[in-house]
Amino acid sequence: MCVVVVGGAAAGLIGCERQAGSPGAASGAGWREVSEEQLTPTRKVARDAALSAIDDLQQTLLAQVSASIQQRGPAGTITVCKDLAPELAEEVGRTHGVRIGRTSHRLRNPRNTGPAWMKPVVEAQRDEVVMMAGPGDAVRLAIPIHVAAPCLACHGRPDLLAAEVVTALGEQYPDDEATGFAEGDLRGWFWVETVETP
Ligand code: HEC
Repeated sequence: MCVVVVGGAAAGLIGCERQAGSPGAASGAGWREVSEEQLTPTRKVARDAALSAIDDLQQTLLAQVSASIQQRGPAGTITVCKDLAPELAEEVGRTHGVRIGRTSHRLRNPRNTGPAWMKPVVEAQRDEVVMMAGPGDAVRLAIPIHVAAPCLACHGRPDLLAAEVVTALGEQYPDDEATGFAEGDLRGWFWVETVETP
């Protein structure tokens, strides 16, 4: 399955950071895109929390989907995925105190349309980590997801998909746009938003 490189638990010092003159704070909802170098120590902590939530969601999805494929095969897994994937995202979000999900420029499930702030990332198909800093040291993170070989069973070229997979997809996802990918392609993004801290 896809591999997301998640940075180590870089420790940061909490409490010594001011709202260091963030120019973006005056515009919009106070969010602006930042680079790693621009992250304040407190936001680094928030960023690491966001990364560990993504890591957790990815591991959990991988474990559950692999177990389901073993048991039911890819077609059988498609029918459980529809409930399973959003439930896992909610559960992981609750555990980590963040909002989290997956989205794509070619959606399978329209429910996976991300939050409004992801729209520019999705539209530009940004194949890089995008970080945003917001009010109260909150951070938003978008991390690209790429197609690996095992994904092709359900996201590969339509003419190479198993007939049962095509049937299951047709039944569960009549508006599916998420086939026709090749290994290495950008498939979508994990997005995560930490909650604002006072
Ligand atoms: C067993 C079939 C199956 C396999 C294998 C599979 N997926 Fe999916 N994928 C699905 C289904 C079904 C959904 C829709 C889930 C939902 O309803 O939320 C989905 C949704 C997604 C989404 C969310 C966006 C959207 O289009 O709704 C991403 C991102 C994604 N898959 C990436 C991957 C990647 C990367 C791999 C390989 C590591 C992979 N998938 C392997 C069936 C599969």
